[in-house]
Amino acid sequence: MKRALVSDIHGNLEALTAVLEDIRQQGITEIYCLGDIIGYGPNPRECIDRIMRVDACILGNHDQGALFDPEGFNSGAERAIFWTREQLEAPGGDPEQNAKRWDFLGELPRSIRENGALFVHGSARNPLNEYVFPEDIYNPKKMEKIFALTERLCFQGHTHVPGVFTEDLKFYSPDEINYSYELSDSKTLFNVGSVGQPRDGDPRACYAILEDGTVTYRRVEYPFEETIRKIHDIPDLDNFLGDRLREGK
Ligand SMILES: [Fe+2]
Repeated sequence: MKRALVSDIHGNLEALTAVLEDIRQQGITEIYCLGDIIGYGPNPRECIDRIMRVDACILGNHDQGALFDPEGFNSGAERAIFWTREQLEAPGGDPEQNAKRWDFLGELPRSIRENGALFVHGSARNPLNEYVFPEDIYNPKKMEKIFALTERLCFQGHTHVPGVFTEDLKFYSPDEINYSYELSDSKTLFNVGSVGQPRDGDPRACYAILEDGTVTYRRVEYPFEETIRKIHDIPDLDNFLGDRLREGK
């Protein structure tokens, strides 16, 4: 089995297109998405249309924010969610396709469990909303609870910071492990990083590949100036949401 794990696309069509092309070139046919297809970025409809065709997708907090009333977002993110909702309701669009997108978002599961592996947006403890940041390795209480709820492997997104958490409370960023991690019998959490809004200081789109006991991280260049230009042209999307793509922050 060779499966691509993508997450946190956030309406960034240029990044998603580059990642899907990289996945195709790797000969991978199975794709799981770990949520946040939309929010922040200028192409929510197009990104949903592409993700509707992958093998499985989990609900992210921004997807949920567009479906229901957004809660717990800062004002820039909230405005982006309201703008995103308008795009999905766009009266000019094909009403059948609009309905299909809403149905798709409304039916996304919060987690998928398969042979000892859990797939969530946030964490095993709170699949939709909990952040597990690299610095949480210094919060053993939190991490022990999360590991206790993890059968063996957990794949997650949400922080936009890719890397591996081991049960002895170490965190490895992709470049510290040379972009590849061999699975053992011990419990391990993987943050697969963000396609459309990386925040680990590397502006390239990020995703992971799960294959025969190894998790590999991929970084993919994409024309972010195009995405930034689109964001700057939309008054409801803060310029900052575009500018940060240049730094990957
Ligand atoms: Fe996100």
